[in-house]
Amino acid sequence: MNQATIERLEQSFKLIAPRSEELVDRFYAHLFSAHPDVRAMFPQEMTDQKMRLLSSIVRVVQNLRTLDRIQPALVEMGRRHVDYGVKPAHYPIVRDTLIAVMQEIAGDKWEPEYTADWTAALNLVAEVMLQGQAQTTTGKQ
Ligand code: HEM
Repeated sequence: MNQATIERLEQSFKLIAPRSEELVDRFYAHLFSAHPDVRAMFPQEMTDQKMRLLSSIVRVVQNLRTLDRIQPALVEMGRRHVDYGVKPAHYPIVRDTLIAVMQEIAGDKWEPEYTADWTAALNLVAEVMLQGQAQTTTGKQ
């Protein structure tokens, strides 16, 4: 990702950060209503999960300039996701749901470019997590 993309990602996240609780609430609401089949992979009580997702997004945003620093943690996280039942095809669903909710929250402050920027950033994260998934025997399909 180039400098301009990184700056737009930071800018756009600033629009959303003050409403991050709403972001994760709405994210899971959208995800579970559009893809009810994934609900069973998650625990009944979602409070901790919401916090974990949020802090991992914050961590990515804080490390955009040095993504290789968090690469090993992302690979490990991808490996754990195999045990949760996550398949590679789920990643674009999570990516697009997250972006749609960010856009909803930012409203008219959302620049059209942000969508492409976040798609690129989340594709990168997924690519690294899928390296962890590919290292296992059950995570390939
Ligand atoms: C952008 C990519 C993703 C990020 C940053 C992310 C982040 C996280 C984090 C931080 C956790 C907490 C546990 C851990 O670290 O292992 C987690 C758990 C989990 N994630 Fe993800 N995740 C991503 C993609 C996905 C996808 C594509 C799915 C599929 C629907 C998914 C489903 C789950 C499930 C089922 C759990 C376990 C909940 C539990 O049993 O407590 N995640 N995720």
